[in-house]
Amino acid sequence: MRILLIDDNDPFRHFLVTTLENHLKNVDVVEATSLKVAKLLYESDPYFESIMVSLDISSGSALSLIHHFQDFNKKTPIVTYSSEEQASEIPDTFFLDKGTKAKRSPKIFVEALLNHPTYQKYLRDNQSHKQYARIKIFYLWRFEELPIDLYVKINDKKYVKILAKNTKYDEAFIEKYHTSKNEYLFIESKDYEILESLLYSDQWFEESNELSDEEKNFRMKKIIQQMASSMGLTPHLIQKAEEVVQSVISSISESKNLNQIFKRQQKRMSFQTNVSTLITYITSALCDELEWNTQSSKEKLGFAAIFHDTSLKSAKLSSIYYLNLDELNQLSLTEEEKKKFFQHPVRSAEIVNEINLKFPHVETIILNHHERPDGSGFPMGKNFQKIPPLSSLFIIAHDYVMRSILNRFDKNPSDILKEMSPHYQNGHFEKCFTALKKIIDN
Ligand SMILES: [Fe+2]
Repeated sequence: MRILLIDDNDPFRHFLVTTLENHLKNVDVVEATSLKVAKLLYESDPYFESIMVSLDISSGSALSLIHHFQDFNKKTPIVTYSSEEQASEIPDTFFLDKGTKAKRSPKIFVEALLNHPTYQKYLRDNQSHKQYARIKIFYLWRFEELPIDLYVKINDKKYVKILAKNTKYDEAFIEKYHTSKNEYLFIESKDYEILESLLYSDQWFEESNELSDEEKNFRMKKIIQQMASSMGLTPHLIQKAEEVVQSVISSISESKNLNQIFKRQQKRMSFQTNVSTLITYITSALCDELEWNTQSSKEKLGFAAIFHDTSLKSAKLSSIYYLNLDELNQLSLTEEEKKKFFQHPVRSAEIVNEINLKFPHVETIILNHHERPDGSGFPMGKNFQKIPPLSSLFIIAHDYVMRSILNRFDKNPSDILKEMSPHYQNGHFEKCFTALKKIIDN
């Protein structure tokens, strides 16, 4: 059964996806976090057996979207839900009351949902109800530990316990199991209700007293990057992205020693997040040095640092640092991979389109992040005369960070600067590079 689910409330959507996947047979839930994305998904392939829409969605009128679906195909059953009762009056739809925040019960909601005739015929019968229930590995980022045991599936008959309940796990644990081929871990079915309540709650690791700010930022960035590249950003995540950027910016203004920060960051972080944090440090310090230090310039550069590579989903592609075509040809990429790589600034810029009103120019910085002063970059091959100041600053910071990481932070910063120097002698680049030398030498 293919279901289109439209909701920008992250915890509730996680709960609902898990419920549908565990109670219904052969279910495929396609998630959308905005009305715009939902419309695009529907238009590209309208074959859904059911559509579920949160009427509390904040990105526009759910009602007009429902009319759009109904004009297209009256027969697809539409289920709506909301915390507000008056929302129940839409003709030809089935309404579910989410209850107010104070008195919500996952059980009542699930019962009402599964009683609907659309879902009745897809219910798993008791006998086929498995001993294990599934949970998307992605949701583990929300917590530090779970009150239930976690299993990995070896085959239909064999599941192996990989984590005992109430044991803390870290990002290395999540990343070990979350691969492009594996999206799920498993729990025993007897624990299912505990999981359901946990996902249904608004609980989120941010309230934790045990995680450091650095770890919280790291986790949040992971969630943001994955959401941005898969189903789109929600208002909650955009707000979190702002908080992450602001916290990174304020930590650099407290500690000016960039070389030390680079050493410290290197230890345990995965590639993409490491890059984005370090770029934010450098761009922010460069803004101070150049006296382009308005909060909004720093934030725009910080956003660009988080999102510049979000459209590159494979680790192989996102770890490439492009210097020139010859080096790229040595990496034995398929034609398809090369195409993706050369288009990624355009695709990543499209992803941030929705924050562009609030943070103009982020899109441009992302679009330009692989351009080079001599015109040898991509996707447009602009030269220094066509690359605006903030983009030039970002390109230099990106270059410095990538060269440091590729050398595993072993290379002397002054040697990296020497390598870079001949490339940045023109236009805005000259000024930005002089500032980079100053902040690195300090
Ligand atoms: Fe890139």
